Amino acid sequence: MTGSAPQAPPCGRGQGAQWIAVYSYPGSPALWAGSFTYGGKLTESRARTRAVDFASIKDGETAMEVAVGTGLAFYEIVKRNPRGRNIGIDISPGMLGKAKRRLKTLSQTNYSLALGDAFDLHEPTESVDVLVNNYMSDLIPYGDMGKILVEFKRVLKKEGRLVLVDMTRGKTAASRVYELIYRVRPAALGGCRGVELSDRLKRLGFAVEARKYHQQMPFPSEVILARKKA
Ligand SMILES: C[S@@+](CC[C@H](N)C(=O)[O-])C[C@H]1O[C@@H](n2cnc3c(N)ncnc32)[C@H](O)[C@@H]1O
Repeated sequence: MTGSAPQAPPCGRGQGAQWIAVYSYPGSPALWAGSFTYGGKLTESRARTRAVDFASIKDGETAMEVAVGTGLAFYEIVKRNPRGRNIGIDISPGMLGKAKRRLKTLSQTNYSLALGDAFDLHEPTESVDVLVNNYMSDLIPYGDMGKILVEFKRVLKKEGRLVLVDMTRGKTAASRVYELIYRVRPAALGGCRGVELSDRLKRLGFAVEARKYHQQMPFPSEVILARKKA
């Protein structure tokens, strides 16, 4: 289970798988990727900007973004790290295609964008300074989240930073509409529901240094900055 929230019922394995299947569907990746870019800007841009701020990337570091999607945050990460190593992965070829097109507009080439799975990061233990993961955990079945966070912890260096952004439990009546929709028809949200991960991170040996709630039209997000304890 996650920490003090979520009030919505847990997402079942089937719903998470369904969501990933949607992203991976070969017939419509551009359509899906396009709509997520547009919708993501309207409801998630402030939280995503906060995440890049929380990451406070120092040029020369090894930065990794898991689940880059269309590359909105990865673009900003790479820009801030021209002499470092930037690793972007996503499980969906459609999303990756869109991210690659976005990143091509940068003059920098010190990044990789490849297929990859959050459950099994192909990076050495304690090799990453900062790992960013936006709007993925809210799709993952609760029972599986622990495995992913342990994998994030494995690749992070001691004192490495973890930045998570997810849909969270709304703090206003308007923002709680998503919980109602999820209760009635989880598939309408692709199995996505509000989560709060800070207590879980603490139990796994992270120090949670900052949490910020953002509500945008009326979508509720939480941005977390956590540090792997030495
Ligand atoms: C809602 S989108 C968010 C994309 C991006 N992070 C953003 O903020 O715009 C969720 C992303 O998670 C990816 N994803 C889902 N499960 C994953 C997994 N197990 N490993 C890697 N990526 C995954 C999907 O393909 C999709 O691109």
